Amino acid sequence: MNIKQTDQKYIAGTYARFDLLLTSGKGSLAFDETGKGYIDLGTGIGVNAFGYCDEVWQQAVAKQACMLNHTSNLYYTAPCAELAEVLCERTGMKKVFFGNSGAEANECAIKVARKYASDKYGEETEKKGILTLKNSFHGRTLATLAATGQDGYHKFFGPFPKGFYYVEAEDEAALEEYLKSGKICGFLMEMVQGEGGVIPLSESYVQKAAALAKEYDVLLMIDEVQTGNGRCGTLYAYQGYGITPDVVTTAKGLGGGLPIGACLMGEKAKDTLVPGSHGSTFGGNPICAAGALTIINRIDEALLLEIREKGDYIEKTLLGAKGVKSVTGKGLMRGILPERPVADVVKDCIARGVLVLTAKNKIRLLPALNIPFEQLKSAIEILKDVLAAE
Ligand SMILES: Cc1ncc(COP(=O)(O)O)c(C=O)c1O
Repeated sequence: MNIKQTDQKYIAGTYARFDLLLTSGKGSLAFDETGKGYIDLGTGIGVNAFGYCDEVWQQAVAKQACMLNHTSNLYYTAPCAELAEVLCERTGMKKVFFGNSGAEANECAIKVARKYASDKYGEETEKKGILTLKNSFHGRTLATLAATGQDGYHKFFGPFPKGFYYVEAEDEAALEEYLKSGKICGFLMEMVQGEGGVIPLSESYVQKAAALAKEYDVLLMIDEVQTGNGRCGTLYAYQGYGITPDVVTTAKGLGGGLPIGACLMGEKAKDTLVPGSHGSTFGGNPICAAGALTIINRIDEALLLEIREKGDYIEKTLLGAKGVKSVTGKGLMRGILPERPVADVVKDCIARGVLVLTAKNKIRLLPALNIPFEQLKSAIEILKDVLAAE
């Protein structure tokens, strides 16, 4: 079978794939069908938190697959209860709803904010709007597309759910206008806009937003789908900003390579969801949860320090290098604005055995949290070389 041709014939044309067929992986190395190895600085878009086929994760997943692969949410199972406990203990949040993706985690957050307002102010309240930032990305379901503050995502699929509003990041006055208007129940934002080009928010803006949300009784909701689970050098990126959110959503790296999403609710919102108000067939699946436990349990202070150090190394090496206009991001979530077109940089990197991602006009790096320093160094040297090419 010619896999590339079969894929092109039968898979929906939503992905412009690179001319690369991956067949296996170990740690931070991926291998193609010829056996050529690639140092992977993208980890399946921030998913393989501990690299390909990490043994601790693999064993937990395999053990759970042999014991109890799935049951419905009509019954208790151990892995999702344990995972929820660990997530709450490590964040101070109070309750968790498990889904299967980042978009679903954000759908849940949107529902929580609206129901919180309904419960408190009555079903007819005007306070049902969801405010997000311009240039944000929150997913591809209809509601999370509506929440995404980029016009490019608002084509073709309308009509979209109503009640979504957007403000410019860092504009405190515009934010206050909306929050005090009485029509906003939840404010959703990423600490580092990922798909938007790896753009971190300032600490002062985030703290002001948290204070305003509290003042106007708007749920402060942090989208940690990409930034979370150690990626930015703290377990969740908001923990580096000195705020206490009401809702936190996450996915991607949480599962370490299996689909799981989570919506964490704090004190204010913890009792909003009741039997019947939300659900998911696969949410909290025992295999995914067992894998996720091995990820969260290994993201300790020592690893977080390493993540920050490796991130600093990337910044130090590439900032000011030939062909590099800027380096942004936090921890092991980095954006590099190249002088060359990003597509050329990605292709040249592939040819030289390095996998990188893009985000708008930037090269985006989301390497494994435990990438060996020597591999990171080799890959960054190659990237630096590629960026410097005419
Ligand atoms: C910040 C953010 N939110 C939500 C999503 C959607 O996640 P998923 O693709 O798992 O639905 C993404 C995906 O890139 C993301 O980066």
